This record gives sequence, structure tokens and C-alpha cells, in this order.
Amino acid sequence: MAIIEIKDLKKTYEGGFEALKGVSLDMEEGEILALLGPNGAGKTTLISALCGLISPTGGAASVGGHDIVSDYRAARSLIGLVPQEIALEPFQRVWDAVTFSRGLFGLPRDDAHIESVLRQLSLWEKRRARIMELSGGMKRRVLIAKALSHKPRVLFLDEPTAGVDVELRRDMWETVAQLKADGVTIILTTHYIEEAEAIADRIGVIDKGALLLVEDKAALMARMGRKTLLISLREPQAKVPDALEGYGLELADEGQTLVYTYDTHAERTGITGLLQDLGEAGLKLSDLKTTQSSLEEIFVGLVKESAA
Ligand SMILES: Nc1ncnc2c1ncn2[C@@H]1O[C@H](COP(=O)(O)OP(=O)(O)OP(=O)(O)O)[C@@H](O)[C@H]1O
Ligand SMILES: [Mg+2]
Repeated sequence: MAIIEIKDLKKTYEGGFEALKGVSLDMEEGEILALLGPNGAGKTTLISALCGLISPTGGAASVGGHDIVSDYRAARSLIGLVPQEIALEPFQRVWDAVTFSRGLFGLPRDDAHIESVLRQLSLWEKRRARIMELSGGMKRRVLIAKALSHKPRVLFLDEPTAGVDVELRRDMWETVAQLKADGVTIILTTHYIEEAEAIADRIGVIDKGALLLVEDKAALMARMGRKTLLISLREPQAKVPDALEGYGLELADEGQTLVYTYDTHAERTGITGLLQDLGEAGLKLSDLKTTQSSLEEIFVGLVKESAA
């Protein structure tokens, strides 16, 4: 059974803005989904709806089998939320902030758990510090510690690494991997595509309130794992020479450039043979350049398409 089930979820804000236009998505336990999308796409709205912070205006969703509206408390008790906005009490001490969060769920104290969370997030040394004495990255880690204080089975991370340095970002990825190993299901939103590449099992792309794509990361990467070799010719060609037919070349740039697309995952790229055959066909090259399609390009392409 899916631990998160989202069916045609809609949110129209007061004033009539449609922030979610019918989102459907299922997640299996222990899965990590990275949700990519430009500013205003609806990422935070989706997470807020699942957490019961805003009420959906259509469709339905459940977490752990509990409806997020009619069974809000039970659903929420399974969820840890790391909000996008840092909202902390400046005078509160780290330990108290995290313990307090746990208390909000009506759970008894569990100092050993809080300690392990703080240690995992490298906050143990700072447990007596006041929030206002922390750096931005540390505050973000406090938000994560708070979200983990009640041992949630589902974790929503809304841009957890915004403004976090590279080293800490990697620590955070490590933490996410550990949580996954413990069976926690995670949705994270991010503007860092390499972050999605690094930790997600599946990638979702959302734009203007609609999910444009949800796909297994490995499959997506394989599909995109193509490179293009641009071969600039000294002399423009009217057509691809017959001798080079087998390579699936295309002419561009008014016959000045040959474009060869190959699979980076293939054992043989065919480049060596191609270059040899180019010489034999009497073509002289002035330049060679490769470009690689990345998750970034796919993402930008998708979002552009949806805008058209
Ligand atoms: N309370 C609100 N009332 C009206 N409109 C809202 C409200 N909250 C968000 N919106 C609008 O809904 C849309 C989606 O916002 P949302 O915060 O979900 O985007 P996001 O994908 O999280 O963007 P970002 O990457 O900037 O965090 C935006 O156009 C936003 O202006
Ligand atoms: Mg947001």
C-alpha cells in the first residue's frame, strides 16, 4: 500500500488563484521524491495541504491511510515538516525548541531520541545555544531536528538546503539517506538539480500547479544521458555525405555543422569510427564540441513547453 496517496488534489486560494490544478501521486514507504519546479509552481502549497496547514479545494489525499482532512490529526502525527520559511523563537535554546516540537504531538519525553537527532545533525554542541546565536545553516538544521522530534514516518523537506554551504548540504544528504534506510518516506523540494540527482529515487516536475512528470530517476537519467558532438566543417555541405549515412548525423548551421548524438551509457560511442570516416569522406574539420543534456535541460525544457 502506498503511504502517501494524492488524488486530483486542487487548491484555489481565496481570490481565485489556482495553485494546484489536480495533482495525483502515490508514494511507497521509504521512497524519496524530489519535487522540482520554478518559483510559484505550487510546491509549498502541495506540502502545506498534505500537512493540513491549508485546506484543499478539491480532490483528496491520505498519509498512512488517514485522510488529510477528515482524519487530519492521525495523518499529521505521521508527518515531519521542515518548512521553507525559518520560523523559530530567537530566545529559545536549541534543546528546548526541539523538545517542545515533540511535545506538540502529545508524546512523552524521549531525551535519548532528541540527543541522537541533535548529534546526527551536528547540533549537539549547540544544544544550549539560543536560536539567535546560530548561523543560518544551523537554524535550518534546527528545523530538521524539530521535524524529526516525533519520529515521523513521512518527512517533507521544503528547500532544506537553501542557503546551506556545500559541505553541510552533503551532510544533509547523508542524513536523508539514513532516514530512508530507516524506512522514512521523503518528499523534498529543491532548486538544486544536483541535489535531486544525488538523493532522489524519483523526480517530479511541477509547474503552474500541475505535475508535468514523475519518473524514476535512473530511467530519467538514462533517457537523458545523451551527448551531442558538434562538428564544425571548413566547407559547408549541402547534405550529409552518403559515406556517413549510418551515423544518423544531422546538418545544422547552414551546412557548416554536423551534429552527432550518442548515448553516454553505451559501451561504444562510435566517435572514433565517425572521425575516421569523416576524414575518408574528405571533410575537413575546424572545431569539435560536445554538449550534454542534463537534468537541468530536461527540466528547463519541460517548464518552457508547459508555458507555451
Ligand atoms: N495564501 C496565499 N494566497 C494566495 N495565493 C497564494 C498563497 N500562497 C501561495 N499563493 C500563490 O500560489 C502559487 C504557488 O505558491 P507556492 O508557495 O506553492 O510556490 P512554490 O512552488 O513553493 O514556489 P517557491 O519555489 O518560490 O517556494 C504562487 O503563485 C503564490 O503566489
Ligand atoms: Mg515554496
